[in-house]
Amino acid sequence: MAIDDTGDWTERTLADARDALDEGLFPLEFFHDEQLHQLEMERIFGTAWVFIGHESEIPEPGDYARRYIGDDTFIFVRDESGEVNLLFDSCRHRGARVCRAEQGNTTHFRCPYHGWTYKNDGEAAGIPQKSKAFKNLDREEHGLAHVPRLETYEGLVFASISDEGPSLEEWLGDFKWYFDIHMKLPDGGMEVIGEPHRWVIDANWKTIADNFNGDSYHTAWAHGSVLDLELGGEETVGHAGTGDSMDRHIHCDGHTTSMRGFEDEDVFMTYPEEVVEDVFSRDGLSEDQWQVARQALSFTGAIFPNFGFLHFGDTTDDPDKDVAPFFTIRKWRPLAPDKMELWSWGLAPKNAPEEFKQRMYKMYTANFGPTGNFEQDDVPIWKGITDGAKGQFAKTSDFQLNYQMGLDWMSEMDIDENWPGPGFAYSENLEEGGMRLFHEQWYELLAENPRENALGSPINIQESEDK
Ligand code: FES
Ligand SMILES: [Fe+2]
Repeated sequence: MAIDDTGDWTERTLADARDALDEGLFPLEFFHDEQLHQLEMERIFGTAWVFIGHESEIPEPGDYARRYIGDDTFIFVRDESGEVNLLFDSCRHRGARVCRAEQGNTTHFRCPYHGWTYKNDGEAAGIPQKSKAFKNLDREEHGLAHVPRLETYEGLVFASISDEGPSLEEWLGDFKWYFDIHMKLPDGGMEVIGEPHRWVIDANWKTIADNFNGDSYHTAWAHGSVLDLELGGEETVGHAGTGDSMDRHIHCDGHTTSMRGFEDEDVFMTYPEEVVEDVFSRDGLSEDQWQVARQALSFTGAIFPNFGFLHFGDTTDDPDKDVAPFFTIRKWRPLAPDKMELWSWGLAPKNAPEEFKQRMYKMYTANFGPTGNFEQDDVPIWKGITDGAKGQFAKTSDFQLNYQMGLDWMSEMDIDENWPGPGFAYSENLEEGGMRLFHEQWYELLAENPRENALGSPINIQESEDK
């Protein structure tokens, strides 16, 4: 990033980039910049609602797991009364970590440094030699710090380290209409199977955010090998990005989802008939949501800023076996401008037969786990983008990436006026508006503006021009 004469590099360069985004351009150098990384940590991860985990990961009192928001480490723990807490893992005496395992079950956390002890709801329970050493210390004021805001939606726990800002309800907005389909379709909801996988990728976190915000264009190309190996069905992988099935790109309150499906067919993401009949329920969904689920073959999508999901049918882990669905939720935790930690959970309907849940978990692992067939295709590409952004040429040549697909002067793209859900749906998936929307929101938060300033849609742009 160039430093201008006044030294005011950030505001000016970012504002230029925001203008360029209206033309569908975004600078490559923004995918590797130390100062931008620091700003992202402060202004995005310091304010946003960030996914922590699912309640089913800590079902019993005392169950805990270590979790992160940006650079901050927390303990995700269910206390003795059954409440879920998110405690900052830093001893109130001198800051040592009090949680020394990735996960487990405990009634108390004891600091390894001088032995201060905390209950699993964070309350300070024991201070060695207190009557002599800390006679006047108020124990009640020296519990582990709770994250300022913690909220749950359908078992999914999100937190914000800012004590002000929109509620989780407001943050998700009407996008819940879409995510309800995933969480409420099975009677009894979804649950996490096993532990989340975690691995480090040498790539900037925005590369994967781009991908999950509607990159249908890459599927048949980057994942062609999955098709060659007969691990991905022709319908899902072979025809993605070709516009010959019921493909929709949906933008709703700053979040996005891509759906592929078949009109008026019973598809249900290729869940087997017995699961559809015995486990799925219309009770938690409207008729419109049910119809969307019925016709869907696959969904991908992202909740701003760093939550992604895939609910896929028509793939397999073995060419000799039938196709089956999988459902994964993932989180991209930036570690540095060229490094992120990817967290990934496999889920399955809670009330499905055990054998089927294990198949779903295997399917998730085989396709999108750390060594998954799809995952292996994408990661080197994201690293390549980041490497390109790292050098001098991206800066000196002001190299701009192209996000123009779907802009009305570039390609024809209609809005589906009859789409039953909130937000709006492009009637095909050959467009990149979801990525522009992601980068617009990214800009607005870095500029300390409300996230809603991001227009992100031709409809909204039209409305704003009419004002
Ligand atoms: S730092 Fe934890 S007891 Fe001293
Ligand atoms: Fe991919």
